Amino acid sequence: MTNSRYRLHHGDVLGAYDGWPTPRTIISDGAYGVRGFHGDTVGPEGLTDWYRPHVEAWSSKAHPSTTLWFWNTEIGWANVHPLLESMGWDYVQAITWDKGIGHIAGNVNGKTIRRFPVVSEVCVLYQRRFAVNCPDGPMPVQRWLRHEWQRAGIPLNKANEACGVKNAATRKYLTQDWLWYWPPGEMVERLAEYANARGANTGWPYFSLDGVTAITAKEWDSLRYRWTHQHGITNVWQRPSLHDAERLKGTLRRAAPRVYKPTAGSAAHLNQKPLEFMERIVRAVTEPGDIVWEPFGGLASGSVAAVALGRQAYVAEIDPAFAELAEERLSLALVQADPAAEDAAATEG
Ligand SMILES: C[S@@+](CC[C@H](N)C(=O)[O-])C[C@H]1O[C@@H](n2cnc3c(N)ncnc32)[C@H](O)[C@@H]1O
Repeated sequence: MTNSRYRLHHGDVLGAYDGWPTPRTIISDGAYGVRGFHGDTVGPEGLTDWYRPHVEAWSSKAHPSTTLWFWNTEIGWANVHPLLESMGWDYVQAITWDKGIGHIAGNVNGKTIRRFPVVSEVCVLYQRRFAVNCPDGPMPVQRWLRHEWQRAGIPLNKANEACGVKNAATRKYLTQDWLWYWPPGEMVERLAEYANARGANTGWPYFSLDGVTAITAKEWDSLRYRWTHQHGITNVWQRPSLHDAERLKGTLRRAAPRVYKPTAGSAAHLNQKPLEFMERIVRAVTEPGDIVWEPFGGLASGSVAAVALGRQAYVAEIDPAFAELAEERLSLALVQADPAAEDAAATEG
């Protein structure tokens, strides 16, 4: 299904990536190595091979400002992290979802268990690594800023004058230690103007990405991933897994290899994520109109959240039964977000 707010690919996402526009964020909730859906691996060891073609596609379509949310078990993530790292994704933080004691209530045999019961999973945030091309080769941003300043042959402390601040520029923007932080565009533009006015003409302007013009504040700011702070939310999220009306049930279908006899009360999908969490991650790194990818849709919770928040969702689901449910949820989310869409659909029909 295609409309201006979401596109759902019924099939393998590997056949969809090429047609999807550059994502602002990617929500990955794929294989866990726990036989959680048909096609999940049987252990965490197989996850690297499972994810490799997907990470390749994400890396080739990402922009420097693209983020990735990677849901998994702790050991599943540990297995896939080296792959992500090697393909240009930098770790930002891990969020732990604490599902609470209710998650294992009645299911733990204290005589046989040999560890603490597991009630958590993780959602790990990555940012796309950005290396700046310059005459001396590609460089990480932190190194490049200092390198350009020094290339212009200006003393480090003059950066404060360039930025119109007491000592923040040298201490924060040009330092090579952990006190460094990403300068706002306005400051980089000032550094660039100052360096280009004073440095010798070498044929490649100082602080230039293309060798022709110096970077502007707007261009610089567009290279960084968005972040909207949500007060009071930390990297540990506590709430039980879905048991309320949000949970889809009653399909009587074996949702995964480990489900033997589904009843009317069985979950339609074992991995359905709370919309509250999906809305939280979408809101944090995107703005209305931004592109959100959800390659392993399931019931498309991330895309439902994206549509509700006015973002554009690109989602795939390989299992036809799940894809049908995802389609229903998405069209409902669309109507709820924009009642005019229902009238338009009725007219078309
Ligand atoms: C962990 S579940 C996602 C659950 C989802 N986050 C939700 O809240 O409903 C992973 C889903 O990815 C689907 N899937 C696995 N491989 C896929 C692929 N190559 N292309 C598209 N979907 C795939 C599976 O069928 C499964 O429904």
